[in-house]
Amino acid sequence: MIKKVGIIGFGTVGSGVYETLLNKRTKINQLINGDFVVPVVLVKNLHKTRDVPEETEVIDQFDQLSSRSDLDAVIEASPDSYTAYPYVKTLLKNGTTVVTANKELMANHGEELLQLAAENQCRLFFEAAVAGGIPILTSIRHTLKTNDIEKIEGIVNGTSNFILTKMRDEGAAFNRALKEAQEKGYAEAIPDKDIDGWDAYFKTVILSHWIFGTSPTWLTDKPSGIRGIDVRDLLLASEFNGRIKHVASIERDETKIEATVRPKLVLSGHSLYGVEGVNNGIHVKGSIVGSLLFQGAGAGKFPTASAVIEDLINHWTDTSEETPLSGIEFEQTRLNIQNVRT
Ligand code: NDP
Ligand code: HSE
Repeated sequence: MIKKVGIIGFGTVGSGVYETLLNKRTKINQLINGDFVVPVVLVKNLHKTRDVPEETEVIDQFDQLSSRSDLDAVIEASPDSYTAYPYVKTLLKNGTTVVTANKELMANHGEELLQLAAENQCRLFFEAAVAGGIPILTSIRHTLKTNDIEKIEGIVNGTSNFILTKMRDEGAAFNRALKEAQEKGYAEAIPDKDIDGWDAYFKTVILSHWIFGTSPTWLTDKPSGIRGIDVRDLLLASEFNGRIKHVASIERDETKIEATVRPKLVLSGHSLYGVEGVNNGIHVKGSIVGSLLFQGAGAGKFPTASAVIEDLINHWTDTSEETPLSGIEFEQTRLNIQNVRT
């Protein structure tokens, strides 16, 4: 049996998924006990050169993808919620399983889309939406079932961590470090989302729903990012044996769940002190296990492709126990992100 998967978006993530699917064909075929093709890739600009063999048709009209009845899944890797929402909604209504890397989509529309998936006997996967290559959602859901999670504290934006590390270690100017993060494919299409804290905010919303089943109470009106931090701040922190990190935290006690996203001074010995460069680090405190640190590449072509493809293979081999977030109320966060569309 030949499985068919479509891809929406062929930038850093979409092309990374495509290349990895082809490079890992032998292993994937063993896992799915069959073979697969990518018959269709949807992009915005048909005039860009794409390195794809003839079996894959590159299109720029969503109808050409959604009208197909032969797709076993669609991978969604378009730049934002505005673009992805109508696509994913239509696909789920048609009963097509979607694997997305889009954290803005899930933070804004997760509840509705998961409901649609459940109603239409298909699934919506989104491991890649939080912390790039680190399998944080799957690990928490499937290997920390008995623990009550008391606290999550993490570096969840690779671009910010990359910039802060470059500035501190190399004295790089903020804009030069950001440009390098963009060239490496770490940053969002609108990088303000990274450097003003929105990307980490979306991921924090998803984590809070994933773990606690609800949005947290935010201790500030909006997230704080790393814009405005300069090399002198970072060097001053070093003099005190500390580092400035961009940290998202969610803490629960008996009465409330509170969250913040902001730059923070962490001292040597803190679990996030050694999380450097594009890496993300997520410190999870469980009631039985105690403290765990999940660390690894939080952005980039192949780490993100890894997370997407593991979701796809879980769908095809049906080993995951449930649709992620099924049964959990994922209330819409109704974020107004107009202010980051500069
Ligand atoms: P890119 O900007 O590199 O790629 C976006 C792709 O989407 C491009 O191929 C673009 O087409 C296509 N696209 C744009 N508009 C449309 C449209 N209207 N219809 C169809 N396709 C469209 O983004 P990334 O690959 O970096 O990110 C994709 C998603 O993955 C985002 O949601 C991001 O947040 C998420 N993500 C990114 C990670 C990373 O490390 N980069 C890590 C984890 C998640 P064209 O090529 O023609 O311009
Ligand atoms: N722009 C995001 C980051 C991509 O830098 O973390 C991974 O979600």
